[in-house]
Amino acid sequence: MDHFLYRDGRLMAEDVDLAHVAACVGTPFYCYSSATLTRHFQLFTEALTGMDHLVCFAMKSCSNLAVLKLLGDLGAGMDVVSLGEYARARAAGIPPDRIVFSGVGKTRHEMSETLKAGIRQFNVESEPELAALSQVASGLGLTAPIALRVNPDVDARTHDKIATGRRQDKFGVPIDRAEEIYARASALPGIEVVGIDVHIGSQLTSLEPFEEAYGKVARLTRALRAQGHDIRRLDLGGGLGIPYTRGNDAPPLPSDYGALIRRTVGDLGCEIEIEPGRLIAGNAGILVSRVVYLKREAGHRWLIVDAGMNDLIRPAMYGAHHDIVPLHEPEPGVATEDVDVVGPVCESGDTFARARAMPPLEDGDLIAIRSAGAYGAVMASEYNSRPLVPEVLVKDDHFAVIRPRPSIDEMLARDRVPEWL
Ligand code: LLP
Repeated sequence: MDHFLYRDGRLMAEDVDLAHVAACVGTPFYCYSSATLTRHFQLFTEALTGMDHLVCFAMKSCSNLAVLKLLGDLGAGMDVVSLGEYARARAAGIPPDRIVFSGVGKTRHEMSETLKAGIRQFNVESEPELAALSQVASGLGLTAPIALRVNPDVDARTHDKIATGRRQDKFGVPIDRAEEIYARASALPGIEVVGIDVHIGSQLTSLEPFEEAYGKVARLTRALRAQGHDIRRLDLGGGLGIPYTRGNDAPPLPSDYGALIRRTVGDLGCEIEIEPGRLIAGNAGILVSRVVYLKREAGHRWLIVDAGMNDLIRPAMYGAHHDIVPLHEPEPGVATEDVDVVGPVCESGDTFARARAMPPLEDGDLIAIRSAGAYGAVMASEYNSRPLVPEVLVKDDHFAVIRPRPSIDEMLARDRVPEWL
């Protein structure tokens, strides 16, 4: 369910006509719906009702301050993976006791800055990281609350590049060595064990891998408690998949996911943390673009649009499917033609869709690339010296530019030419 629907033949974001936004802001731009973000966040809080819990938005998926503030005001915590993300979360008003720090490569600088400013928990991913954190914390006279991220050796059955819970993946410590490492952690100065963390991958379309992983975490919780550790929090990660194709794929619902959590770890009396990103932001955002040319050659048709792989890299990077719809609703039964929807970037990989059946479109027409709210704007770059794509947030019948498009002069002004050249 999202709030990008046709009304009187025009694609709306809530009660805002997207063609009007395009006229004001120019194209391409990302547009997010407040109502959809809110709804998706609430699906998780409803799914965990009755359990002590904190939903930490995986802000790597969509980290604009306005989006973070909207979610923070609803009670969200944040899952951060860098000092930059931590700073964004704090700037958006998220209190430190709602921020968890994940990631395999936290530097000592990041540890000390976040420890001094306040943090709910570090999700520690390796023994060297544990040793470094102990040194940093004890050097500051502070205590770092930690959960050890365990690698349960479970295949999330998702795209290879976003599966994180198999033995060969770089994430976490092998679950069969966890007891030994917890014993070491609890003896280290500056470290306080508070829980266990697991995250097995992203865009999971079946609950079974979660079930397997959470079952292993439940067994580990009991074993660690028997050894005297105070395991009071379980961070179960993110990863619940979303429908990318309207009407076709139906991944499990947050309510089913909540029931699974209750079934696997609900009896342990732990505070539950989850880190969803994509399910909250993915279908709450679209990328609006304008057709530059329709190029026809030897029976092949390319719809060349003004958004490129630098603005939305998911199709180029993962072969990801995104539905693409015109802003003007096509007449029912209109004949479609198969086109490759491509951007202007100088790579053949700059392709949003191949042989996609689209209604007739011409130069100047507007399209929306759907399901682009997560891992869209955050992964954008200035490749081909294309200024960073702007972001817009809609609420009811009004919209705001929440990140303006930089001018070309602003982009150039960041470079420095040394005087010896
Ligand atoms: N927690 C941790 C530790 C993570 O690494 C991630 C995602 C999440 C939570 C959130 O997962 P989600 O609920 O969003 O699935 N760029 C890729 C996705 C990378 C996911 C990275 N980690 C894509 O566009 O598909």
